Amino acid sequence: MSNFVQRFTQSRVWRSFFRHGWPDNPLDRSLVMTTNIFFHLHPVKVSRKSLKATYSLGLGVISLITFLVLSITGLLLMFYYVPTVERAYSNIVTLQTMVPFGQLLRNMHRWSAHLMVLVVVLHMARVFYTGAYKPPREFNWVLGVVLLLLTLGASFTGYLLPWDQLAFWAITVGTSVAAYEPLMGSTIKTFLLGGPEVGQEALTRFYALHVMLIPLGIALVTSIHIWRVRKDGGLAANQAPEEKP
Ligand code: HEM
Repeated sequence: MSNFVQRFTQSRVWRSFFRHGWPDNPLDRSLVMTTNIFFHLHPVKVSRKSLKATYSLGLGVISLITFLVLSITGLLLMFYYVPTVERAYSNIVTLQTMVPFGQLLRNMHRWSAHLMVLVVVLHMARVFYTGAYKPPREFNWVLGVVLLLLTLGASFTGYLLPWDQLAFWAITVGTSVAAYEPLMGSTIKTFLLGGPEVGQEALTRFYALHVMLIPLGIALVTSIHIWRVRKDGGLAANQAPEEKP
């Protein structure tokens, strides 16, 4: 039996999964970290402090999880939702009242959206209060600001889609406020609405932004953001006190 195990762990099948030996020496330990998709968020060496749940509160990871829940539930909502002024509202009512688990699906999407905005803001506050925005992490802070804006953009564009009174008037007020922005205000309003008021053109544009452009942007920038965390040496707590800027 042990001979079989030994031969199997040396076989090409095993090696295709695990490209390193049992991690009982520094080289194999570092190979475990760099070749595993789940571990490679961390650099090869991490301090105990950065792994403590009370340091980061896991808020970045929770932001990512809410985004994944939103992507999956959003995709399922697209099976039923048609972005036209005639059908959008009735689609949502049908989804809630006649589709099995429809109300659960919609509520999961809605609550995850609220949670994502809250958690991203808390994550930003945590990064600020631990001083993790300082060099060499300033670029990642800028990426974070882009992610915050994209998250708020996703929230704002999603708000119109149910096409109920609340949605219609909230976007009417929101886009009118945007028009007061100096220099580009009226351009932004026209870009969002595709016309002088909230109508089919606005619904089409908000839908395209909400289901394609913004989620793709979040997925791309988040990938670079998390990759940068590792390239910057892991969480700021990893640095020895004398290295801290
Ligand atoms: C979609 C939104 C976001 C996602 C999915 C995300 C994800 C993450 C993850 C997974 C980490 C590493 C673990 C952790 O700190 O929990 C991290 C770290 C970091 N994030 Fe974010 N983040 C987001 C938004 C932001 C925002 C809004 C900022 C600031 C403006 C920001 C700045 C940073 C910085 C500077 C670090 C390194 C922290 C350190 O070294 O201690 N992130 N982020």
